[in-house]
Amino acid sequence: MEGKNITTVLTYGTFDMLHIGHINILKRAKSLGDYLIVGISTDEFNTLKSKKSYYSYPDRKRIVEAIRYVDKVIPESTWEQKLEDIKKYNVDYFVMGSDWEGKFDYLNSYCEVIYLSRTEGISTSKIKDDFSQ
Ligand code: CTP
Repeated sequence: MEGKNITTVLTYGTFDMLHIGHINILKRAKSLGDYLIVGISTDEFNTLKSKKSYYSYPDRKRIVEAIRYVDKVIPESTWEQKLEDIKKYNVDYFVMGSDWEGKFDYLNSYCEVIYLSRTEGISTSKIKDDFSQ
């Protein structure tokens, strides 16, 4: 698929304990093009970010791969890999949630950077907090 005349979309996230906000953003990201690549934070990268996911990277990868909007899952293991991935996969649209607004504007020289609004009232952190009460 890569390298052909198709529109490729790339997004990143941890995607732990999948919820409706994840599905919404993946559906909207896919609707921008033909081929959606999702970079998922590895467990090591999460440790670096002081985050700990409930599901392991292999499980999160399999879960996200099973979503109909997702064509390919790649590991996200460094902050710097985004530009390499954009070049490697001929990315047309780089999509992030609005919690990252402005943070990736420097990638606009290589592809179109789009921030999509988050689904309100839900996050993995909220699910964890709600269950710990
Ligand atoms: N996202 C969204 N709406 C939400 C939650 C997440 O659109 N309510 C998007 C994020 O903006 C990001 C992607 O889903 O582009 C993956 O987000 P991730 O950080 O894995 O999910 P969160 O639920 O925000 O997890 P956490 O609470 O651990 O930060």
